[in-house]
Amino acid sequence: MKKNKFYITTPIYYTNAKPHIGHAYTTVACDVLARWNRQQLGNENVFFLTGTDEHGMKIQKKAEEVGKKPQEFVDEIVSEFKNLWSKEKLNIKYDNFIRTTDSAHIKAVQKVLQTLFDKGAIYKGEYEGLYCTGCEQFKNENELVDGKCPDHDIVPEKMKEECYLMKMTSIQSDLVKKIESNEFEIAPEKYKNEILSFLKNQTLNDVSISRKNVSWGIPIPFDPKHTTYVWVDAFLNYLTGLGWDGDEKKFPKFWPADINMIGKDILRVHATIWPAILIHLGIELPKMLFTHGHILSGGKKMSKTLGNLITIDEMLSKFGTDGTRYLLMSGGTFGDDLDLTMERMTEKYNADLANGLGNLVSRVIKLVQNINKSVDPYKSNLLQSEISKKLEEVQIDRALEAIWSYVKDANKEIEDNKPWELAKKDTSKLKEVMEHLMLELYMIADYLLPFMPETAEKIKTALKTKKIEPLFQRIK
Ligand code: MSP
Repeated sequence: MKKNKFYITTPIYYTNAKPHIGHAYTTVACDVLARWNRQQLGNENVFFLTGTDEHGMKIQKKAEEVGKKPQEFVDEIVSEFKNLWSKEKLNIKYDNFIRTTDSAHIKAVQKVLQTLFDKGAIYKGEYEGLYCTGCEQFKNENELVDGKCPDHDIVPEKMKEECYLMKMTSIQSDLVKKIESNEFEIAPEKYKNEILSFLKNQTLNDVSISRKNVSWGIPIPFDPKHTTYVWVDAFLNYLTGLGWDGDEKKFPKFWPADINMIGKDILRVHATIWPAILIHLGIELPKMLFTHGHILSGGKKMSKTLGNLITIDEMLSKFGTDGTRYLLMSGGTFGDDLDLTMERMTEKYNADLANGLGNLVSRVIKLVQNINKSVDPYKSNLLQSEISKKLEEVQIDRALEAIWSYVKDANKEIEDNKPWELAKKDTSKLKEVMEHLMLELYMIADYLLPFMPETAEKIKTALKTKKIEPLFQRIK
């Protein structure tokens, strides 16, 4: 069936600290897919949502530590995120930036909790478990390494408290069916298998959806001593970010989401709690949960202690906006962990951007100076191409590879035809060769648009005006 709309979301990021390279990675990937879909379907048929997850113990504590009110603290962090997404930095073109402290979001969350309570999907009880404040999640013993949460390297706290719980067992077999049939597709395949084997081997425990001693949260309407558990509040952003108000019958144009993009650290909750809420509410599940790996540096998890941190600011100042976007998206198979080093990225920048693309553009523009031709705005048939197939399958790095094979071919075409010699002896052949190269370059620019929007525009302008500044300089 032909797709007629596209709705994609990033996870909403915690506002306990400034944005980092991992946040940038997910967000650039979603931006690429959103921009590409806008090319296919028109701006009005695409919705790209990102935002921030602002409640909970972790953020409350952090604000206290620096002597600020939580709201004041999160407002500052949110402006850091918005700044990183701006045109001058990563050039992220989102359609909405949802904050879980938005009053419309809070109202909708409360309405949902009331609905779930009235339906009997939520009940009062007690929860005992190991809580990791880093994840804002209860952990199973078998998820710990040496008694510690492997993602945050901290020993989770034993907690026993009165809370509200959401029923999970009643939805489990329905959930398994939806995952197996790909009605709720978990991709790549290895993550689908991982979740299915988890769901088939154990009965899901009911999950705690409220906390009693966390004031920085949304009060539960039927028992305001309790506030919502971070994750329930957070998941609903995917609906409230579209303007959904908690009424299950209100289906805006864009639901269900085509892709909820996430990192592997939050797969389990996205594959269990999130669909459970929707099933209880009678709302269709997202079409796809796409899970990518983590960014590593020199084969290891980045950490201050190891001294292997690569910051997004460092990348931006060295490689610029489009260079950074390119390097994040082309460094490895999208979905797997991505191992970065500044050395390798510098090499790749020089090879692919300064030499490959940069060289092609400057040669073509130089060589067309003397021919009387400019390209007509020409729309390449993006839909049919192998590149679009790869992007449909979220193989972002493969799509870039395919574009780069066109760049290589075009550079080879120049070497084979030696237009500088044709200029002296066969001007009609020169015209033919250069017209073809101009069309090739126009097509490359079109393909590049979602990945490197500014570069693509510069190439198109250069083809019209026959003037260009060097796009990418070699760097050390
Ligand atoms: N607030 C929750 C998500 C709620 S979504 C309803 C959260 N926030 S987070 O700030 O920790 O961001 C998590 C996301 O950031 C990951 O899922 C991933 O997309 C991205 N990354 C965080 N660290 C990362 C790496 N080191 N590498 C790649 N991406 C990672 O969890």
